[in-house]
Amino acid sequence: MLGGRRDTKCAHPGWDTGLMETDSRRARIREVRSRLATDGPAWTRDQDRDFETVTLPERDCDLLRDLIIAEGAETVVEVGLAYGSSALAIGETLVTVDAPHPRHLVIDPFQQPAFHNVGWDLLRSAGLDTIATLIPQPSSIALAQFATEGIVADAAFVDGSHRYHEVFVDLYFLRTIVRPGGLIVLDDDWTPSVRTAARYYEHHLGWTVLPGAFASGTHWNLARDPTAQAVPRCRALRLPDQPFEPPFEAFDPFWTEAHRPDP
Ligand SMILES: C[S@@+](CC[C@H](N)C(=O)[O-])C[C@H]1O[C@@H](n2cnc3c(N)ncnc32)[C@H](O)[C@@H]1O
Repeated sequence: MLGGRRDTKCAHPGWDTGLMETDSRRARIREVRSRLATDGPAWTRDQDRDFETVTLPERDCDLLRDLIIAEGAETVVEVGLAYGSSALAIGETLVTVDAPHPRHLVIDPFQQPAFHNVGWDLLRSAGLDTIATLIPQPSSIALAQFATEGIVADAAFVDGSHRYHEVFVDLYFLRTIVRPGGLIVLDDDWTPSVRTAARYYEHHLGWTVLPGAFASGTHWNLARDPTAQAVPRCRALRLPDQPFEPPFEAFDPFWTEAHRPDP
């Protein structure tokens, strides 16, 4: 599936036209992505190096794109839009996969008030507003609503609030929204809050790491401690094919896992 499209598309008489259309849409997205990575956004918050600090670096975006393309994803949930680098990469994924009903659900309550819609405007300039929807609510509310509506996603990218309890709740709901065997990618796995939330799901609920998925991406020292181990900033996790609920007696104090080196 990597870089390709579904067989149904190839069998269609208008295949050549469809192929050209997909290629030109992808070229437009790549142009916006490349300009953003080189020149930065048209506007940033008044904080030193805010874009560089906040946005997902280009090579991690490329790894994220390729990983989700390999899933053949049709519906992707994203938490945290900000400057839109990861959202553009996910948009490129969906255009590349070219499934019948691509859907990119992007959650961010602060896109307008804190980011002046700069990420959303970039998605629009890349022509991705046709498949993307911005939900301007906290993820804890939006994801609960998705679960209520029975939305099923193939993959999710989580880069919203980095508070432990908010990441934990994001993953709690994504566990029911992302299909069994689907993919969840987390940014900032070097932060103790994100890392500890993720480790609960790995330790207790059978989520498995895709080893090496972000090995060639950017790395950070754990908790920004220069003496600590450097780890990939993103972590890709696969949900089990058969979801299960462990008995509460099986709870293990997982926080002891939090700072252990990766296997
Ligand atoms: C690190 S930035 C995301 C960067 C983005 N992935 C990029 O490549 O530019 C975190 C984003 O999460 C958003 N955010 C903060 N709290 C949130 C919440 N409770 N729900 C959803 N998004 C939230 C912020 O507004 C911000 O845009």
